[in-house]
Amino acid sequence: MGKDVIIACDFSSAQATFDFLDKFTEEKPFVKIGMELYYAEGPSIVREIKKRGHKIFLDLKLHDIPNTVKKAMAVLSKLDVDMTNLHAAGTIDMMKAALEGLTREDGTRPILIAVTQLTSTSEERMQKELLIHSSINDTIVKYANNAKEAGLDGVVCSPLEAGMVKESCGSGFMTVTPGVRFADGDVGDQVRVTTPQKAKEIGSDYIVVGRPITTADDPVAAYRRCVEEFVG
Ligand code: C5P
Repeated sequence: MGKDVIIACDFSSAQATFDFLDKFTEEKPFVKIGMELYYAEGPSIVREIKKRGHKIFLDLKLHDIPNTVKKAMAVLSKLDVDMTNLHAAGTIDMMKAALEGLTREDGTRPILIAVTQLTSTSEERMQKELLIHSSINDTIVKYANNAKEAGLDGVVCSPLEAGMVKESCGSGFMTVTPGVRFADGDVGDQVRVTTPQKAKEIGSDYIVVGRPITTADDPVAAYRRCVEEFVG
């Protein structure tokens, strides 16, 4: 499993995304396309970025009945994305159906990872509003184990949760972690953050980095610094 830095391309249009990607003349970073860009531009944005030679993590966090998710995943698989995701809260049956939909006729498929509990959900809200009475950490570990049982490749989680997920699900179970900041950088609206170096020590397989790269004076230098610290 190769460690890599994924750039969160949280732009609102294809043009802004291409203007950003054009700065990378020597490397082809792995990019994350989220809901905003995908809903604004549709599947063509995936095809165009793919055509430019980038790997793509399509972050649409599917959550619906198993049959609907299976069919939607079959469509995403044809788009030839490299990684995509869903909510583990959809149950093991939904995750298994997603895997079936994602698997192509030749047996290949994109990496499939699960969101456990969103990092924006506090333990207090989870307990009071969702009536989940376990601790947030136990919930995250349980959902990660459900994802593993369904046959998924890993989970999206905070780098600070990656250690406990690996401990419970094994080192081969992938952790993809946003919430990464340089030691001397702005934290912005992220709360539980860590540096690329620390994420590497904790055992993240992929770090997802947005603003520390996209809003840097020199995005290419910031990307290289991330790769240097995380991949080494
Ligand atoms: O700009 P920044 O580095 O904070 O971007 C992090 C990216 O990871 C954003 O696209 C954000 O939506 C995503 N993300 C996150 N926390 C999660 C799940 C996804 O920050 N728990």
